[in-house]
Parts: sequence; structure tokens; C-alpha cells
Amino acid sequence: MTTAAQVLQGLFSAEGLEDPYRYYTELRRHGPVSLIGGSGPYAAVVTGYDAVNQVLRDPRVRVTDDAFTDSHGGAAWREHPLLAALNNSMMYSNGERHVRARRLFQQVFTPRRVQELEPAMVAQISALIDGLEARLAAEGEVDFMAEFAYLLPSSVVAALLGIPAEDLVWFRPRVQRINEFLDVTGKTAEVLRRADEATVELSNYYRRLIAVRRAEPADDLISRLVAEDSDVSDEELVCNLLVLFNASFVTTIHLLGNGLSLLLAHPELRSCPVEPFVEEVLRYESPVQFVARYAEDVIEVAGTTIPPKEVVLVMLGAANRDPESFSDADRFEPARFLPDPKTHTAERRAAVGVARGAGGDADRGRAASPPIPTGARPLSFGAGPHFCLGAALARAEAQLAFPLLMERLPGLRAARAPVRYPQQFLRGYESMPVEVCDAP
Ligand code: HEM
Repeated sequence: MTTAAQVLQGLFSAEGLEDPYRYYTELRRHGPVSLIGGSGPYAAVVTGYDAVNQVLRDPRVRVTDDAFTDSHGGAAWREHPLLAALNNSMMYSNGERHVRARRLFQQVFTPRRVQELEPAMVAQISALIDGLEARLAAEGEVDFMAEFAYLLPSSVVAALLGIPAEDLVWFRPRVQRINEFLDVTGKTAEVLRRADEATVELSNYYRRLIAVRRAEPADDLISRLVAEDSDVSDEELVCNLLVLFNASFVTTIHLLGNGLSLLLAHPELRSCPVEPFVEEVLRYESPVQFVARYAEDVIEVAGTTIPPKEVVLVMLGAANRDPESFSDADRFEPARFLPDPKTHTAERRAAVGVARGAGGDADRGRAASPPIPTGARPLSFGAGPHFCLGAALARAEAQLAFPLLMERLPGLRAARAPVRYPQQFLRGYESMPVEVCDAP
């Protein structure tokens, strides 16, 4: 049997980028937790569903924070604006600092706020479909990733934060430069330099916007944040806004791309109710494949002792394909997440003026309550204290987008094979050329 370290090497190769799942299956043969050993960057890889869930919820397990970074590479990270911003943000903080930022953002970024945004999201989706239609008519083929998936999440998060839509052309490439650095395989000095530059520019932008909103509040998240806690410093807001925008933008793109790719490859999926369809896309092709953690002390998970103060890769994408938790885990099967009829309601569908299943079936609506009644939930948004703050927003975007896309463009099909996104940490596509055929 190949060692876990060898399997991990394969996972981080071109073959692993194309099909990580066969490497996850191989890793699982070593057990739900595999020790890597040697002098590599990772001490262990967690692939089992229960083990991933346990690690993410264990209070002794921490995100890689400033203390960790200090002990692993010295204090030089403080000279890099990107690394300083990340380490000060909720995503890379533990304990008090995390709780404080998380609480502040949770107070203003509520499910109700997501619901209020739905009409704006429908308008944004419709406008992007108008653009797709026009480009398809003029050019015959468009790149769905560039012309829709890349544009929608940033437009939505901009509307949430109160960033004017016209600033997004400037915003998006800078956010992408930060993202390039976050990939495990992308950390060259030049990539970091560009990401630092982008961080400084985006931070200055946020500082100006915060000053404007402190003086003149509007109906947006930044205004609510400063109203909720008048003592909150600009620096605390800026690093968390940077992370929030980045976390929302780079991930939801792939939920949209992965979902469309499945709808194009399997037209029969268009008759699925949209909530279980989106849930199954999240499980089957998790946009975030893994997160990193370290244990403060020695911990035992699924009978394996994990050494302290070393990076542990927590594989969400593998947990979501664990056959112990999902029957026939490598099969795309939205029916496993069919909503409980007792909680199914058409209220929100009526509120936003859209009906539908993944393919626009007018008889099927979105559920107002979480769509998963029983059984294992996908871990695509993480678990425990760092559970994704924007899960409801991401689900809403996808649940609104797919039915509208299929309804307005019923003849949409793949024009050529899509190109895989070249990052292991995010699973999705770089480009997806589509066209319309006359007869759907
Ligand atoms: C399909 C889309 C998305 C996926 C797959 C996703 C996934 C995740 C995951 C796995 C985490 C946990 C990270 C960890 O445990 O280390 C996370 C955290 C986070 N996400 Fe998302 N996310 C998505 C969309 C969004 C959106 C739309 C927003 C905001 C509008 C957002 C904001 C955040 C923030 C702020 C955190 C950090 C929370 C904390 O550290 O307490 N995400 N996300």
C-alpha cells in the first residue's frame, strides 16, 4: 500500500486536481485520520466525516493564527499587509478576538438580512442573464464562469456591504490577487507581493467607505456594523471586511460553476427541486476542499494521536464523500436531501417572484427553513466556531440563480469542455464555454 504521504503528493498533482476523489478514497484506506510524518508541511490529514466534524468542533483545535505563524516562520509576516490582515481577521483568530469579531458580524449579517437581499439578487441575476443572452446572440458562445459565475457573488456581496456596483471592476481583480496567494501551491514571493499591494489598495478603499458611513449611515452592512459597536476600530473592520469579501466571492463562484456543469451534463437534473440540488452540489463538488488547523495539545481522533502545533489538513471534500455517512457517496443524488414536507413552504418563492426547481419547474418552491431534515449534512461550510458566516447567502444565490438560468436559457449547453480551476483548495472551473441550441 502506498503511504499516506505518497497519496497526498498525488492529491497535490495535476491528476489530483482533476480527480481528488480517488486520492481521498486511498487516504481513507489508512483510516479517517492519516499521519503524514517526515519533514513536510502537514502532520496529518483528516478525511472521515465524523473525524472532520470532531476536529472542527474541538476547542483544543485552532485555526492557524498569529501565535502559530510566529512559531513557524518568525515575525516577518507582520511586514506583509496581507498576512497581517489575515491574522487579525476572524477567520484566522481564535478565542476572544474571534468571538468578538464574529459576534459583531453575526449581529448585523442575519438570515433576515439575506432574505431582504433576495429581490436585489433576483434583479442582479436577471441582469446577468440579459448580458449572457446578448453575448450568446452576438457571439454564439460565452464563458459562463467569466460572464456570470465570476460576476454574481461579488455583485451580491457588494450590495450587502454598500460598495457601489461601478467600483467592482476595480475591486474584483484585487480580490483575485489575494486569493492567488491563499492556495497552498501558490505562495511565491511575487504572488505575495501582488497580494500585499492589493491588500493595501482594498484596505484604503474600505477605510474611506467606513469614514463615509460613520458620518452618513446608509442601509448597508458597514453602516450597521459601526452603529452596532461605535467603539469598533477601523482596523478591526477593515481586516474582517477584506476576508468577508474574499470568502464570499471566491467560493460562491464555484458553487455556481459546479452546479451549472452538472445541469448541462445531466439535463434530467433540471426537474429536481432546487434546495436539495444545491445541497447535493455542495456535497458532491465542495467549493472549499479543505481547511487547516493545529492542535494546542496532543489530541486523539478516531484512535489516531495527532501531534500538537503542526498543521492538520481537514478535508471537507473527502468528508462529504465518506461512504460511512452518505450512501453511494460518489453518486450525484439530490433526493438524499429532499426537504421535509412539514417545513416546506412557498412563502419565499412568492416574496421574490420566482418559483422553481433547479430547472425552473413552477410547481416546486424554495424552502424557508433549512432543507435537510435528517441524516448527515455536508460539511462544505465547515463546522464549529468558524462555520461559514455566509452559508445562507451562498445557498440563496445558487437557489435563485439556477432556476432563472434554466428558465430563461432552456437550450443552454456546453460548447466545449470546461477548464479546471488551477487550485487544489477551491474546486471548480476556470472557464466553461456555453452555447444555446434551438430545441431544448
Ligand atoms: C459556496 C460558497 C461558500 C463556501 C463553500 C464557503 C465555505 C466556508 C468554509 C469552509 C468556512 C470555514 C473556514 C474554516 O473553518 O477555516 C467559511 C468561513 C467563512 N465564510 Fe464562507 N463559504 C461560502 C460563501 C461565503 C459567503 C457568501 C460569505 C459572506 C458573505 C462567506 C463568509 C465567510 C466568513 C466571514 C468566514 C469566516 C468565519 C469565521 O472564521 O468565524 N462565505 N466559509
